[in-house]
Amino acid sequence: MSYSNNHGSSTRDLDISTLDAFSTNSDPGKFGRMFPNLPALQVSDAKLADLAASMLDQPGTAPSGDNGTIPAGFTYLGQFVDHDLTLDTTPISDQATDPTITENFRTPALDLDSLYGDGPGVRPELYARKSRTPYGPSNKFLLGVTLPSEEQDIPNPLPNDLPRNRVGRPLIGDERNDENLVVAQTHLAFLKFHNAVIDFLSSNRPDLTGADQYTEARRIVAWHYQWIVLFDFVERLTEPGLIRKIKHEGRRFYRFKTTPFMPVEFSAAAYRLGHSMVRQVYDFNRVFREGGLTPATLRLLFGFTGKSGAIVGDLVNDPSVDPTPGIPGGKLASLPGNWIIDWRRFYDLGLDGTPVNASRLIDPKLASDLHSLPGESGLQGVLAFRNLKRGVQLRLPSGQAIAAFIGADLLSAGDLISGPDGAVVQEHGLQANTPLWYYILKEAEVLHGGQRLGPVGSTIIAETFLGLVHGDHGSFLWQRSNWRPELPGSDAGNFTMADLIKFVDDVNPIG
Ligand code: HEM
Repeated sequence: MSYSNNHGSSTRDLDISTLDAFSTNSDPGKFGRMFPNLPALQVSDAKLADLAASMLDQPGTAPSGDNGTIPAGFTYLGQFVDHDLTLDTTPISDQATDPTITENFRTPALDLDSLYGDGPGVRPELYARKSRTPYGPSNKFLLGVTLPSEEQDIPNPLPNDLPRNRVGRPLIGDERNDENLVVAQTHLAFLKFHNAVIDFLSSNRPDLTGADQYTEARRIVAWHYQWIVLFDFVERLTEPGLIRKIKHEGRRFYRFKTTPFMPVEFSAAAYRLGHSMVRQVYDFNRVFREGGLTPATLRLLFGFTGKSGAIVGDLVNDPSVDPTPGIPGGKLASLPGNWIIDWRRFYDLGLDGTPVNASRLIDPKLASDLHSLPGESGLQGVLAFRNLKRGVQLRLPSGQAIAAFIGADLLSAGDLISGPDGAVVQEHGLQANTPLWYYILKEAEVLHGGQRLGPVGSTIIAETFLGLVHGDHGSFLWQRSNWRPELPGSDAGNFTMADLIKFVDDVNPIG
């Protein structure tokens, strides 16, 4: 597996001259700057490499590094959201005729194009077939089925893998969602959510059929998803009340005339906070957990996918295909049934006492497997280095420059040099001008014990998400800003990720 062309293919491919040519606070194009007038921070590769090496989570996932306020499912909802925002299916021909990427590009939006593709007309292979001639695509997504597994008591097959073609590639809107098994099962949950909404409409709105039913289901799914992202996910990440405050009082720093762009302060720094939330080891289901067969390490979670791992479809019988090292069996036709997720362990569903995996604290520490990404060598395999380096390449300002600009209290030098990573900050004299991504993680650690972001991180994240939703003319904020969720949830007028999982009603298929 190589991460060079992996998920989030946008910021990393960005050409700095294009970015600078169009960075204004009007409508700069696909990318832009939230703080265009602040000076860039330059730091040598040697210093970045030392700092990255110090950003290592404790071995064995010590409970003291857990963030009890954010269940681990949100980490991968965050990755799913990243792929939705950064997916650009603009045809290569259009990209070539618009090299400045100012016109023919897809704007970043929470519109689930990573789920829907361009709809059943253009991507019929993503949808189940109608059962009647001419057997065209139905309004429901196609689902994949699991393989028998060694545990005899697991029913087989179950409709709980991504749909795949004969060589194991996922038939989904964005292949990056088959990069690790938790994001893959999150994608599957959204496929099933759409299908459940189709059933809901069949019962409650029988007047809607055909394309009208599909369009209405897509609206319901997208609006509930946007609500979850703003008020269940971003609300947990950011300072209390900030999302609602900005919604009512307006954005101050992320500004555009009509078309949202992707701010590099968000994509190359703040929203990479998710990397620090990743756990090295998970209790995945009753089989793969502490006290079970073996806990689910990151390495295993990469292995049981088609993009990064061992799922190769029919090629399982081809002796010329190399098995994936570290994965039992080494080659798989599809997902074995014992690897279906138990959602009770990833979101607080309030159903029983099953312990929920916490995400890791938002702090300058990354799981050890993220320091040696499979398929990469040297510093390319060190995710923390790649994030820091990307910040320098894209000429991001320091954390302090942004804090001063937005009127936030600056972290003190004493705060910044605390801990083993802080010792490296001090050694390299980075405490007065600190790389933005690191500063945001340190701010969360120092000000909120790693449970949520501080003012710089919160402002960039909250303003970007609200701006992206508001700038999308199909979104609930644009169309009906006082809209409240209409599907049944635990509290009337609200809808959370836990409500979505319960609505799908497939919480723990293997029992
Ligand atoms: C196991 C989990 C993950 C892995 C292995 C991973 C890996 C990567 C890699 C290799 C990059 C490219 C780095 C570069 O060269 O610039 C990247 C970019 C990125 N990641 Fe992750 N990531 C993971 C989870 C997450 C999560 C949970 C989030 C957010 C909640 C996230 C947000 C991002 C963002 C925003 C980018 C930049 C996207 C772009 O504009 O290109 N990632 N990730």
